[in-house]
Amino acid sequence: MQVFNTIAETRNYSEKARIEGKFIGFVPTMGALHPGHISLVERARQENDIVVVSIFVNPIQFNNPQDLEKYPQNLNADLELLKAAGCDVVFNPSEAEMYPEKVNKHYDFGDLATVMEGAFRPGHFDGVAIVVNKLFDIVLPHRAYFGEKDFQQLQIIHALVDLEKLDINIVPCPISREDDGLARSSRNERLTPEMRKAAPFIYQTLLKARTMAQDSDSGRIIEYVKNQFIAHPLLKLEYFSIAGANDLQPIKGELHPESYGFIAVFAGEIRLIDNIRLI
Ligand code: PAJ
Repeated sequence: MQVFNTIAETRNYSEKARIEGKFIGFVPTMGALHPGHISLVERARQENDIVVVSIFVNPIQFNNPQDLEKYPQNLNADLELLKAAGCDVVFNPSEAEMYPEKVNKHYDFGDLATVMEGAFRPGHFDGVAIVVNKLFDIVLPHRAYFGEKDFQQLQIIHALVDLEKLDINIVPCPISREDDGLARSSRNERLTPEMRKAAPFIYQTLLKARTMAQDSDSGRIIEYVKNQFIAHPLLKLEYFSIAGANDLQPIKGELHPESYGFIAVFAGEIRLIDNIRLI
């Protein structure tokens, strides 16, 4: 496994691989890798000749400075995990390498970016789109792998590929969960033991919402979820939205096929997101 810190080395490697007719699979990450990330790497390993993983904590997608400052980092452990998963190249640039100058670009993703994470994390998806577009231009992948854990991000990336007319196949990958149902996340490491114990309540509530979806309309399910969190001593609901998988717009009344429930919750100062297909 090779580790590159520069754009030039990485792009040269990819250009050469492409000339040799090799298929490149790419998994962008911010490090602090867990089995959720590794499931993406394994999928990429199965489907491509070359697997490239980027590790870069992208400052411009953080709307909360403390979240950025405290974002977990563990490069040595990450490299061990990636080697074991059969990764060929790790791209691990510095901030100066990625952003020699201040970037200030705004993408218009329409209503996709104005709801949920877009509404509660101003500027977040511009930051994600800027870095992913730049990473695509460096890694030159044929396929790129994204987790459904960040479902809205996945849809934004589909929109980015359309907007920039990129010839890259976006591969959605299912959510990887802990045994108690908590969606795996690098931020879980920052939970206090008490909060970690409470956090599976999020997925348990999503499962109840899914059961309710058999015979309840959107309004009743939303009310149920809100009440569950009002009554919870530790977890604070930021939003719960029932929305269509493709347009992410809120569904009122009767659910339609491909309705999802999307949730963001604060466990102390740690913000956790999750989602579930309801129908
Ligand atoms: P990060 O949070 O490190 O996640 C990297 C990729 O792993 C994303 O596609 C994310 O959806 C996926 N992932 C994380 N936890 C997962 C889980 N429990 N199950 C399945 N997939 C999971 O998402 C980002 O980084 C950044 O926004 C990035 C795309 C790298 C741009 O900076």
